[in-house]
Amino acid sequence: MPELLIVGGDLVDESGRRRGDVLVRDGAIAAVGEGIGDGAAAGPNVTVLDAGGCIVAPGLVDLHAHLRQPGREEAETIETGARAAALGGYTAIVAMPNTEPAIDSPGIVREVRDLAAGVACEVLVAAAITVGRRGEQLSPMAELAALGVRLFTDDGNGVQDARLMRRALEYASGLDITLAQHCEDEILAAGGHMHEGEWSSRLGIPGIPSEAEEVMVMRDIALSRLTGGRVHFLHLSTARSVALVAAAKAEGLRITAEAAPHHFTLTDAEVAAFDPVFKVNPPLRSRADVDAVRAGLAAGTIDAIATDHAPHAPEVKEAPFDQAPPGMLGLETALALALTELDLPIEQVLGLLSWRPAVIAGCRADHGGPILEGGPANLCVIDPEAAWVVEPGQLASRSRNTPYAGRKLKGRVRHTILAGTPTVRDGEAQQ
Ligand code: DOR
Repeated sequence: MPELLIVGGDLVDESGRRRGDVLVRDGAIAAVGEGIGDGAAAGPNVTVLDAGGCIVAPGLVDLHAHLRQPGREEAETIETGARAAALGGYTAIVAMPNTEPAIDSPGIVREVRDLAAGVACEVLVAAAITVGRRGEQLSPMAELAALGVRLFTDDGNGVQDARLMRRALEYASGLDITLAQHCEDEILAAGGHMHEGEWSSRLGIPGIPSEAEEVMVMRDIALSRLTGGRVHFLHLSTARSVALVAAAKAEGLRITAEAAPHHFTLTDAEVAAFDPVFKVNPPLRSRADVDAVRAGLAAGTIDAIATDHAPHAPEVKEAPFDQAPPGMLGLETALALALTELDLPIEQVLGLLSWRPAVIAGCRADHGGPILEGGPANLCVIDPEAAWVVEPGQLASRSRNTPYAGRKLKGRVRHTILAGTPTVRDGEAQQ
């Protein structure tokens, strides 16, 4: 394996910002410091990566990616999703278990891990809380935890049965795992296709009230208090959800939360054109909700930005609004949206995208830094000033359902390094 020398950048990790070059050897960081790359030239045994004007950071970690394999390979595969992730700066992503079949048994966990061997980023497999994600019977959580599964979720659906969720949380505290909840009361949400509010009334589209999310956030805060189990709230979208999480954290409960880029960049007004590319679950909310999600990210109430990357093939997504499946692409645009839209220092943005989600995913030993000699070489090099325009046809995902087509963004990944090998070099995927 040739050595890699990353020269001329500013290093940013949890400890702050400093100038420095990074030498990578055998998958690990061999040296870090100012001037170690002086006079270095590329040769057969050294690859020099230019980081001039760039930030060198720990690789990003996504808590929420739908990779669609097995079962929906026409929309995405683990390989194409991982390539999209690498282009977005990620070195680790959590694969959601709402595949077909669902990831709810040791055999399917092993199958997905086999499919993920050698792809462009590490794929951490999340498993379902209930068998088939049907919400009736718990999956073999202890066996799955013994295989190293750290996150369990029925995402796509919330666990509706409070008694079953209580039982799952009781197991979770013993197994040192986290239950990631898609907060949606299905009876309250039934029949809705967008956020319930002024725009749903104007457009005549049945709405999903904010309360469908909030009652489950409240319930699971109560169940975490009761059981001591760790709950991670997926894709929070409403102002009151953010306030509930803030109060639960102030109480010292074991609660974490994420928000998706579309919930801090887009409002329900986008639905006015009836374009199903704006259909997502939870739905795009009001301006006040978007502002509250941003404030929650700024205050640290929301721990992480997670993509909820949800590819759908054009033949199903380009349907009438009420028939199209919910979901939007996220892996290739999350970092740039955060840098462009959140008025936060880059150090804080990277905390939300890298080291804080790494802790929740249970992969902090390998991803999320710090950038130190002896540490694993999972890194990304970001040009924070690079301007670019989102072109759906240029994305590495197999699907095209980005709501940001034509949007001008600032901040782009120049290189991504996984276990010492570039997966992205000068903005190009390497495999
Ligand atoms: O919009 C969504 N799409 N929300 C979900 O919870 C599931 C996801 C998907 O799998 O397409």
